[in-house]
Amino acid sequence: MQDVVGDDAHLFFRFAHGRHLNSLNQNYLLPADKEEIRRSELHHRMLQFVFSGKNYIGPVRQALQFGEQRRILDLGTGGGFWAIDMADEFPRAEVIGVDLAPIQPRDVPPNCTFELCDLDQWNIPYPDNYFDFVHARSMHTGIHDYPRFIEEIARILRPGGLVLIIEPSLHPLVGPIPTATAVPAMPLTQPSESYHDGWETLWETYRTCLRRHGIDVTVPERLADLLAEAGEFEDIVTSEGNIPVGFWPPESDSTARTVGELQWMDYELFLPALKPFFLSLGLADTFVDNLISEAQRDFYEPPPHICRIARLHIVYASKVL
Ligand SMILES: C[S@@+](CC[C@H](N)C(=O)[O-])C[C@H]1O[C@@H](n2cnc3c(N)ncnc32)[C@H](O)[C@@H]1O
Repeated sequence: MQDVVGDDAHLFFRFAHGRHLNSLNQNYLLPADKEEIRRSELHHRMLQFVFSGKNYIGPVRQALQFGEQRRILDLGTGGGFWAIDMADEFPRAEVIGVDLAPIQPRDVPPNCTFELCDLDQWNIPYPDNYFDFVHARSMHTGIHDYPRFIEEIARILRPGGLVLIIEPSLHPLVGPIPTATAVPAMPLTQPSESYHDGWETLWETYRTCLRRHGIDVTVPERLADLLAEAGEFEDIVTSEGNIPVGFWPPESDSTARTVGELQWMDYELFLPALKPFFLSLGLADTFVDNLISEAQRDFYEPPPHICRIARLHIVYASKVL
């Protein structure tokens, strides 16, 4: 990671079970290294296809048309790809990305900065009513008290400011390849009890370990309720999307096909990235190796006519005036 942070890399990263992890927070156990930066980029590009070339959905432009100073915050920014693209798109806005590890590039637009903070241990380190737009994506597994996290987002947003949260479900789906030409908008099927493979077993184990680790694995499905329960948001809009995984969407649906390829590459990196997490939670080395390699086998060689789908949960809302 020296090309990202320089000679003091040892201050920010620790080496565990073959990968570099952040050293700020001992609970977030996905790596902070080149492969994870690549995964963050794949995730970002995939979502740009899902959002028809944009970096967001919802009334973002309206939220940024307020007053002189426009401030955007990206929580759990990862490789910083979203923050950088937003800084380019809104050159008059100040964009800040926050993460546990300095894995963002150094060469960034002048209106973009990155800061280190553990959002699980500390309050979000900005004043009340400070931001016009807060974005948090694919990071709930690093937050133990998600309702408190939402309270903090409400605190730092100005009245009328916008929050956009996107979380992939921890329950990817499997089903028969649809015969229709387009990817269906709704789930094909819940994972069937009769169809249970190494891929499913890995996800089940991941959810169990996260729960044991104190993470609420139902957060993605409950985002809208959690925002409503905070009592500080209005105009809450929620949606769900099916993300094809792999190369099964028909060639005629080029967007679905590209999304499928990007999500496939993301998962390809995700499977080995789970190893430090499982080992740190005390699972035996051989058990973890088998778990991952059986998931890889079923991922790379699914039974004929079976397709995989990832689920995405999206919510946006305005802070009450
Ligand atoms: C799966 S990555 C997603 C990155 C980016 N948001 C994206 O959508 O591509 C999750 C990121 O959230 C960060 N993260 C997780 N828990 C965090 C915490 N408690 N405080 C700050 N960042 C956190 C991780 O370091 C990691 O970079």
